[in-house]
Amino acid sequence: MRFDTKRLSLALASGLALALAACGGSETPAPAAPVEAAPVEAPVEAAPVETPAPTEAAAPAAGTDYASFTGDAAKGKRVFAACQTCHAVAEGKNNVGPSLYQLVGRNTGSIEGFKYSDANKGKNVVWTEENLFVYLENPQAFIPGTIMAYPGLRNPQDRADVIAYLKSPT
Ligand code: HEC
Repeated sequence: MRFDTKRLSLALASGLALALAACGGSETPAPAAPVEAAPVEAPVEAAPVETPAPTEAAAPAAGTDYASFTGDAAKGKRVFAACQTCHAVAEGKNNVGPSLYQLVGRNTGSIEGFKYSDANKGKNVVWTEENLFVYLENPQAFIPGTIMAYPGLRNPQDRADVIAYLKSPT
C-alpha cells in the first residue's frame, strides 16, 4: 500500500516533469521582449553661439527654390526672434548688427554709421529676396568672412517667412 502510493506519486511526479519538459520544449518561455530602443531624434538645429565652420558649405541646397515658398510674415516675426538679439527693424537702430529697416532692395553694407566687415561691405549686391534666401541659409557661404555670428536658417520655409516679415515688419 505504502509502496504503491510511493510509486504512484513517483509516476505522477515524473509525468508532471515530462509534461513540463514537453511544454518547455515546445514553447520556450520568451525572455522579456527586447525593449525597442527609442528612435534617436535627429538633432534639431542647435544654435551654436560661435560662427561655425561652414560644414555644409557653399553647395547650393538642391530643390530649395525661393519661388516655391510663400512666406508668412506673422510666422516670420517669430523666426525673427532669433535675429533680434543683434538686429532691430527700426530705422537707424543699429545694434550688434545693422538695422534691417527696409532691407529688401537696399545694397549690402549700406547702413551709414554701422561698422561692417570688409566682406559684408564689399559684397556689393542688392538684398533681393532671392539673395536673402540664399544668404540666410548659410551667411558664411554667401559672404565669406562676415562677422555675423549666426549659423543660418536651414529650414527654407523659415527663411521665406522671415523675408516676408522683413518686407513689412509689424
Ligand atoms: C549674433 C548676432 C547676429 C544674429 C543673431 C543675426 N545677425 Fe545678421 N548681422 C550681424 C552682424 C554683426 C552683421 C554685420 C556683418 C558684417 O559686417 O560682416 C549682420 C549682417 C546682416 C545682414 C546684412 C545687412 C546689410 O546691411 O548688408 C543681414 C541681411 C542680416 N544680418 C540678417 C539677419 C537675419 C535675418 C538674422 C536672423 C535670422 C540675423 N541676421 C541674425 C549679427 C547678427
